[in-house]
Amino acid sequence: MTKIRAAITGVQGYVPDYVLTNAELEKMVDTNDEWIVSRTGIRERRILKGEGLGTSYMCIQAAKGLFEKTNTRPEDIDLIICATTTPDMVFPATANLIGAAIGATNAFGYDLQAACSGFLYALATGSQFIETGRYKKVLVFGADKMSSIINYEDRATCIIFGDGAGAILLEPSETGNGVQDFILRSDGNGAPYLHMKAGGSARPATHATVDAKEHYAYQEGATVFKFAVSNMADVSAEIMAKNHLTADDVAFLVPHQANKRIIDATANRMGIATDKVMLNIERYGNTTSGTIPLCLWEYEPQLKAGDNLILAAFGGGFTWGALYLKWGK
Ligand code: UT7
Repeated sequence: MTKIRAAITGVQGYVPDYVLTNAELEKMVDTNDEWIVSRTGIRERRILKGEGLGTSYMCIQAAKGLFEKTNTRPEDIDLIICATTTPDMVFPATANLIGAAIGATNAFGYDLQAACSGFLYALATGSQFIETGRYKKVLVFGADKMSSIINYEDRATCIIFGDGAGAILLEPSETGNGVQDFILRSDGNGAPYLHMKAGGSARPATHATVDAKEHYAYQEGATVFKFAVSNMADVSAEIMAKNHLTADDVAFLVPHQANKRIIDATANRMGIATDKVMLNIERYGNTTSGTIPLCLWEYEPQLKAGDNLILAAFGGGFTWGALYLKWGK
């Protein structure tokens, strides 16, 4: 019997209209365009403006485009997984809000939180429901409204992050294309270096936590950088070796977009040339769960069925991993 694999049969992105440039950030904090570009590779990021608009809003826009593009009826969706660190609310799940808004009346859904590795974890999770034959159409989102948890007085974080959402449709394929393999890792010892101090059950919101600015992302950048560089490169090299892939076999590396220097180190370690590395960091910054599906969306016209892609991420948790995908149905 031919193995059923989970193929990405459609991808759609959404980024908000508002462009936050390095020049504008120079007026907000003590930073400069030269430092930001040379240390991160970021020139601008998108910010979602508008009262009451959260992560679900961006996912809904992406889903509408995806349905149109793939000729999919919302009522045919079986499952919605939303990878996000910035849900609309603590509960209910953002996936439920999306499902109601798009008319996915026969789907169940849940959120998955793995910081910047969220989309990778969600794609791996969604693929299992397809491979077992249980479901036929799984919607996976990678989306974050990072501007909702960023302190725009903290130059160590505000220059990095942006808002955006990507959506993919997973369907069964018996051609051999689809998700081939993944290696996922996490280590909670990394928590002190990248986290949000308050707002969870251990330290609920109080006037004091708000006054102390504890509801913003906190990052010790240099430490995270050190772990990101080695772990993302190692796991990417590991998945290639495990699947007997050489650099020539890989059509594209699809890396999480946290810092151009981390991406370059990963590509170097894999022996992948720069023209085979998907990039959107210059225009969107770090959209956390959004980076990888937004890359796939923008590079989709360059992809051919059967292309070998390596998706790789590192983020808060720490969480990291790599996934080997053959493009197309
Ligand atoms: O996506 C999830 C995982 N996150 C990541 O992978 C992010 C990993 N970390 C990074 O990308 C980098 O560490 C940052 C971009 C956050 C920072 O770059 P860095 O080269 O590691 O800088 P640093 O934190 O070591 O700081 C170097 C200097 C410091 O000044 P002194 O102490 O040398 O005088 C900082 O105060 O740069 C200063 N600095 C800045 N200067 C201008 C820090 N932020 C800025 C800034 N503008 N925005």
